[in-house]
Parts: sequence; structure tokens; C-alpha cells
Amino acid sequence: MIDSRFFKQQCYVDGAWIDGGNDTIAVNNPATGEIIGTVPKFGREETRKAIAAAERAFREWRHVSAEERGNACRRIHDALMDNQTELGRILTTEMGKPLAEANGEVAYAARFFKWFGEEARRLYGDVIPSPFGDKRIIVTKEPVGVVGSITPWNFPTAMIARKAAAAIAAGCPIVCKPASQTPFSALAYGVVAEEVGLPKGLLNVVTGSASAIADEFCENPAVRKITFTGSTPVGKGLAAKASAHMKRISMELGGNAPFIVFDDADLDRAVDGAIACKYRNSGQTCVCANRLYVQAGVYDAFMAKFAAKVSGMKVGDGLEEGVAQGPLIDESAVEKSLEHIADARAHGGEIVVGGARHELGLTYFQPTVIRNATQEMLIARDETFGPVAPVFRFDTEEEVVRMANATEYGLASYFYTSDLGRAFRVCEALEYGMVAVNEGVLSTEVAPFGGVKDSGMGREGSKYGLDDYVNVKYALIGGLGK
Ligand code: SIN
Repeated sequence: MIDSRFFKQQCYVDGAWIDGGNDTIAVNNPATGEIIGTVPKFGREETRKAIAAAERAFREWRHVSAEERGNACRRIHDALMDNQTELGRILTTEMGKPLAEANGEVAYAARFFKWFGEEARRLYGDVIPSPFGDKRIIVTKEPVGVVGSITPWNFPTAMIARKAAAAIAAGCPIVCKPASQTPFSALAYGVVAEEVGLPKGLLNVVTGSASAIADEFCENPAVRKITFTGSTPVGKGLAAKASAHMKRISMELGGNAPFIVFDDADLDRAVDGAIACKYRNSGQTCVCANRLYVQAGVYDAFMAKFAAKVSGMKVGDGLEEGVAQGPLIDESAVEKSLEHIADARAHGGEIVVGGARHELGLTYFQPTVIRNATQEMLIARDETFGPVAPVFRFDTEEEVVRMANATEYGLASYFYTSDLGRAFRVCEALEYGMVAVNEGVLSTEVAPFGGVKDSGMGREGSKYGLDDYVNVKYALIGGLGK
């Protein structure tokens, strides 16, 4: 149990808190292994009711003015910020990330509501110059309808925000299905919705069987859009099912981010960027550096500075002061890191820092640095989603661009250089939806977040983020005379 009015162990549907019968899902604190509480295990029938409630809400909400929709988002922003530390504590307790990161995530989430609340008023259409003297062509944007959202455990508050804020601002109700490991941050949105006076059914949170809820989202004709953040295989399966019913989809999927350091880079800046990029959320983000490429001339110097900083990182319970890395989410996350390390060793990699479970036990893991990484290693192809940094050596710009692009993923990429020509050349050559030059963290609500290739489709945040939640309607107004 967490002592907070935001801590709810029921689902939030049609403005009410409901149980799901006898079936429940237990949720644990990865830092202690203790059960924090349980949530209902909804299946298709309960999800259908939530969708029906959202459909009823849509009848009204689609006609609410842009200003009012914006104000609703702004009230959610304010509620999140007024309760930032309380919500941050729930987040850390169920997910494990350090409290400072959790508080940062709540603020990040709140900013999406502020941003999209403002964007609601700029959902402009068009008047197209008509080729006919007696006709006019008008383009408007209309909300798509009920949105089904499926979000992961790594950013339990912010990933919902990116979707729910855009949906509400565009005029769409939403049914949110959070990850079963981290449902409480999602259910806290139900309390927020109540306290800020959202209409019933506009924001619903259902917990339970991922496959049953996803199937209902895909097959229920009332759901007009599905938005998903998670793994590429699951995203592909969802996209296939949703396309059979011609639903709009946004897919924010896996990544395999390259982080490149050229000889001419500011090395201290690159080291700090690599730490932030690799070890944020213990390496459990889709945009984390998965492969660090360092040019031969600065390889040793980079390794020395990077390894020294990583060795100093404090591992522990995210609620403790000064902890830089909390536990991993579960045992399978630990096993994946171990598998990548063993494979790297077998291919000649040298473990410079860490390389094993942490002495704290449970799912704590040592921040790890691997020297002499090569393209033959599993870690070059597969997303680790853990605190393991393989450092590859390269000689030329052409070579590193080829290696960086040699993946089916295309989400985030990073490089460090002080050469302006190279900055533009490499930026254009990287086959990624996002590129950061001389920066290790690129997420912000004002920029379009999303990938290419197997990393998905659609963009979240920014002025483009509303596009996925609206239909473009063309109206031809004729019979106007000359
Ligand atoms: C993610 O890992 O999917 C999101 C990370 C972010 O928003 O920075």
C-alpha cells in the first residue's frame, strides 16, 4: 500500500472506480520485492464497457470548444504539478527509477498537457483556392473518435500523457491500458480526472490482460485509433490486427540508438551526454544509447573518463538520496543484460566496469562498460534495455555511418562533433526519426518524437502530435452563383 489519495486499486471507467471480480494482478516494488497492491484483471467484456463509456463521452466532447478542451488539459497539467512529489513517489515505488527522475517524469508528463492544451486552439483547417467560381473548398480537422492507448512500464506517467493530452485536446476520449508492472501511476490519472472535473468517460483507465484488452481495442468498431508504445514485435502484431479493421495507428516501438563520438568532439561533453543517454532510467528507454561508437584517436581518452564516471554511480532503492540507478524492472530484464554481456565476452569484449548482478540482489544490476565491442556481438543488433554500454572503435565517418545504420531500427541517434559540415552531413545520413548533435537527451514535448523503419510510425508531441488524432475533412460548398 502507498499512503496517497492517488493510490487506487480499482479501474476508472465512466467516472467511477470499479473492481473486476475475483481476478486481480499483484504489483511489486522492484526495489524491495514487496507487493504494493493489486489491480483488477479486466478482460474483453469490461473493456467493452469502458469503450462504450468513451463513445458516450465523445458525443459531447467532440463539440466542446477548443478553448475549453485546452483549459481541461491545463487543469490536468496544474494537478500533476501540484502533486508532483506524491505522484513521483508512486512512480518510483512501482517502477524503481530514482525519485529525482520520477519527479522529472511527472513534470515532463505535465508539459504535454500544457503543450497540447495550447495546440488545441491552433487546430487550423484550410480554405483551398477553388478552381470553380461558384464553389468553395474548405478543409477542417475533426477528432478521430475513441482512442485505445497501450503504454509501457518504463515511463508510466509520461507515455500516457503524450497520448491522452493529444487525444483530449483534439476532442477524443481515451481508454488507457497501462503495463501490468506499473498500473498505479496510470490509475492516478483517474483521480486527477475526477479532481479537475473531466466529463465522465473522457479518460478511462483499465488494467488487466494485455492481449484481451488489445483485441477488444482492435475489433471494437467504436475504437477509431490505437496508440501503442512498446516493443517492435508486439507493435507489429497490433498493427496487423488493427489494419484488418482499418484503424488509425501510432506505433512508438523499439530502438537501437547509436551514440557516436568523433575525434573533434568536446570529450567531456560527450562523456556527460553518454552517461545521461545510456544510464537514464537504468538504460530502460527506447532512446537510450545502445551502441557507443568512438573514433580511434579519442577512444582511450573517452574510455578512461567514461569508465571513471560509471564506476562512481550509486545503485540502490530509487527512494534513497543520491541513488543514480535503481533496480531493473524484473528478472527478464536482468537476464537480457547478462545474455548481452556473456555474448560480448565470447566475442572478445573486455568488461571494464560492472558486468554482473549487483550485490543488493533482486533485480539490481551493476552499471556496465564493455571495451572493444564489435559488430558481430548480439548487442550490436539487439536492444539491451539495461545499463550496459558497449563501446565500439571506428576510423572514418563513412564507416561509422554505415555501422550506425546497420539495424532494422530507426528511433533516436546521437553524435558529437565540432565540425559544422560534419554535423549536417551525418545528421542527413543517419536513418533515424530523431538525431541529437552534441546532446545526450533529446526528449521534449515541443519536438516530434518517433521513429522510422521498425521503430514505428506517427509522431508524439510537437505541432505534428495532433495529426494522428484528427481526420481531415474536405467540404465542397457549391451552388454559390457567380
Ligand atoms: C521511451 O523510452 O519510449 C520514451 C523516452 C522519452 O520520452 O524520452
